Amino acid sequence: MTGDRPSWAPESIDLDRPNAARIYDYLLGGAANFEQDRVFAEKLLEVMPLARPAARLNRAFLRRAVRFCTQSGIKQFIDVGSGIPTAGNVHEIAQAVDPDARVLYVDNEPVAVTHSELLLRDNPNAMVMHGDLTDPGPVLTSPLIDYSQPVAVLMVAVLHFIPDSSTPHDAVAQYVSAMAPGSFLVLSHGVENPSLEGRDEVDRLYQESSSPGVRRTPEDITRFFEGLEFVEPGLVWTPEWRPESPEDVGEHPEASLVFAGVARKA
Ligand SMILES: C[S@@+](CC[C@H](N)C(=O)[O-])C[C@H]1O[C@@H](n2cnc3c(N)ncnc32)[C@H](O)[C@@H]1O
Repeated sequence: MTGDRPSWAPESIDLDRPNAARIYDYLLGGAANFEQDRVFAEKLLEVMPLARPAARLNRAFLRRAVRFCTQSGIKQFIDVGSGIPTAGNVHEIAQAVDPDARVLYVDNEPVAVTHSELLLRDNPNAMVMHGDLTDPGPVLTSPLIDYSQPVAVLMVAVLHFIPDSSTPHDAVAQYVSAMAPGSFLVLSHGVENPSLEGRDEVDRLYQESSSPGVRRTPEDITRFFEGLEFVEPGLVWTPEWRPESPEDVGEHPEASLVFAGVARKA
């Protein structure tokens, strides 16, 4: 397996263990993944075919939310758990509107970081940091971000990889406390649904990966937004968050599996 290691794959990663960033990259049609990630993703799609459309709907939410923040005057973004770059990255959307918009990407997966570094090498207003959501210190002291000014902090499809034992609610509260008034938190999260078909098989599969997941109830997800005010329409299924057309929502928004919301600091 390691003989197949491409030049962009850092030595520190275990190619034999599927990883959330690379599984998601495969689901979105990307090429920054390895055989074990693809085998995992195909097994996932067998037990839960909704995983691929759910990933796309999540990504579409991210794009709409960034556009919303940009239109609301936000000029700096922190994308925590940013993933492997794919179509419609935060800096592409934000800098299309405001070329001076600053974007800090943060991920704990080395392939995501290496690919982001390559993509951003000629972009003075965007950078990537290898870091962990549960350790906000380095992000909150990054010279790229002016914390006296409003910022949008994105935590999109990342918190469901962080168990309660790593105290993600406390970490999010630290970000919220550092944000200036007028800032936004943009968040999406897989929702607990005991009657979901394939749920137990998916849980078993993820236990084998380097990033076992945790689903939370809508109440637990709402707690991440403590101290903030939801913008309309509140916490909803991803396609229901400010869709661009009624067709975007479809008849079964719950098939997106993921809740999403954007909230503002007063
Ligand atoms: C499903 S991907 C989501 C990527 C992107 N945010 C999106 O929604 O399109 C989850 C990402 O979170 C990253 N991640 C998981 N746990 C993390 C943590 N504790 N700190 C930082 N990143 C993390 C993974 O490496 C992966 O890139």
